Amino acid sequence: MSSAVQTDFLTIFRERHSVRYFDATYKLNEQEIIELLEIAGSAPSSWNLQHWKFVAFTVAAAKEKLLPIANGQKQVVDASVTVAILGDLEANRNAEAVYGPVIRAGLEDAYAGYSSHQVLFAQIEEAYTVSESSSYRRDEAIRNASLAAMQLMLAAKAHGLDSGPMVGFDADAFVKAFNVPPRYVPVLLVAIGKEAKPARPTSRFPVEQTIIWNGFNPDNIIT
Ligand SMILES: Cc1cc2nc3c(=O)[nH]c(=O)nc-3n(C[C@H](O)[C@H](O)[C@H](O)COP(=O)(O)O)c2cc1C
Repeated sequence: MSSAVQTDFLTIFRERHSVRYFDATYKLNEQEIIELLEIAGSAPSSWNLQHWKFVAFTVAAAKEKLLPIANGQKQVVDASVTVAILGDLEANRNAEAVYGPVIRAGLEDAYAGYSSHQVLFAQIEEAYTVSESSSYRRDEAIRNASLAAMQLMLAAKAHGLDSGPMVGFDADAFVKAFNVPPRYVPVLLVAIGKEAKPARPTSRFPVEQTIIWNGFNPDNIIT
């Protein structure tokens, strides 16, 4: 991994593109991967519950097992590491671990703006209990884990690496093959390494087309 970290954020954002061909000879060591995942995990999350787990594929046998599950997308094998980002469907269970230290330290104002940790915990539990039959848990898992995935790709770019996100994989087969507990839902695969071939050029809609100032106008709905 390049030791020269790129800190010009605008360049990082603009130059990140989805690479699909990686240099299979380029290796990242465990410490370098940990560094990237540490930055990924600094993403924001609802109540700071940190709804993610990272399954890091580094060895050939595991990558080869992933290949058919990822629809034969060869980047999962050639990348230095392919990370499966999982979302936590039971992130309410993290509350104690997240807030325990500040409770024990008596930092009353550290409870995410709530009057006490009991009020905070009750609200978290209510959200997860009421939502048992709704899509809330899944929405939260995917929403929050996706933020970590985005940070992972930007962290890679900042370290002179390339990345490629993939939703083209069989989530059920992934769960079975890699013994994922029911608590977690596979969200995205991200291949990381050195590009062997540049990303395909892509464009974006003009920003004006993507902004709705102050709400949709009911008399002039854009379709
Ligand atoms: C959620 C998500 C899923 C994607 N899945 C795949 C995929 O399975 N295979 C692939 O080659 N690219 C995949 N991509 C990459 C997109 O095609 C790419 O981001 C888009 O074309 C814009 O190009 P850029 O990222 O190079 O700017 C995915 C991107 C996202 C955000």
